[in-house]
Amino acid sequence: MHQKLQNLKNEALAQIISAQSAEELEQIRIQYLGKSGQLNDIARLFKDLSPAEKSSVGLLFNDVKSAISDALSSSKLSSLKSSSPADFDPSLPGVKIALGHLHPITNAIEEISSVFEKIGFSRVRYPEVDWDWYAFESLNFPDNHPARDDWETFFVDTPARPHLGRMLLTPHTSNGQVREMERVKTPPIRMVNIAKCYRRQVDVSHTPMFHQFEGLVVDRGITVANLKGTTDYFVKTFFGPNRKSRLRPYHFQFTEPSFEVDISCGICNGHGCKLCKEGWLELGGAGMVHPNVLKAGKIDPSEYTGFAFGWGVERTYMMKSGTKIDDIRLLYSNDIRFLTQF
Ligand code: PHE
Repeated sequence: MHQKLQNLKNEALAQIISAQSAEELEQIRIQYLGKSGQLNDIARLFKDLSPAEKSSVGLLFNDVKSAISDALSSSKLSSLKSSSPADFDPSLPGVKIALGHLHPITNAIEEISSVFEKIGFSRVRYPEVDWDWYAFESLNFPDNHPARDDWETFFVDTPARPHLGRMLLTPHTSNGQVREMERVKTPPIRMVNIAKCYRRQVDVSHTPMFHQFEGLVVDRGITVANLKGTTDYFVKTFFGPNRKSRLRPYHFQFTEPSFEVDISCGICNGHGCKLCKEGWLELGGAGMVHPNVLKAGKIDPSEYTGFAFGWGVERTYMMKSGTKIDDIRLLYSNDIRFLTQF
């Protein structure tokens, strides 16, 4: 009986190993472990054995039974419902892997940098948490200017330093102007500083965090004509050859004269429509660098002049034809349904 059981075990394991399908495996199970299977046939002979034989054969019997059922359940085939070729349809579409992409504002920043790189500007980055000196004082802001109030700018709760003042979250990228003058020391300077800015304002057209790109050019003989030429080049390259720019007189502490830069509306081509009303859209501020700012950056204003501009990345991106975003806050809502449209 011992030999019989051993043979049975070897046979069953060999069959399990060479089985080709789940059906075949099931047949093997029935053949050995089924109600009228071979193991039960042997069990029926137990009643004729002596008690001593019974216990030693019983041990072996259990051993063989569990070896066969273990082999059946660990066979790779047992996890397949059916391996019949009829159940596999190679013409069914596969499962698509979701592919992400860069944020539209990241793409806009890259595009803006490459437009300025082509005319010799270097992309620089300056702190987004900076001293009052770079954001306000060196830029000719008087002490009582409203932008220096807690209601407009986020100040960091740290003690003020002599000369540098308090720390703040930069409300504009103009803090890069004097920092760039300190880095380059002797002009020419041609920088574009793209960074995050922070202001206490939230509504459909404002987020407390946004981005600006700041241009600064300082050299001998720089005039408003250079500012106008650079603006036109940017507007035509970024928005399209049919768009025009115009400078409107304005006021900033750190430029004199100062301007607001408008670009012709891409929808009505400057004739006036529902979106722009008068045919022009406002891009942002610009002007000729104030002599006091050059002095703060240790550059002699009797020898050098310069122009600067600071424009919002989100605004500029939305003004590009074909991009309509009703609520600017959507850009930073992390809503995948919104972001996958770009
Ligand atoms: N810093 C100004 C703003 O945030 C823009 C500006 C930059 C104006 C450079 C003139 C020159 O509104």
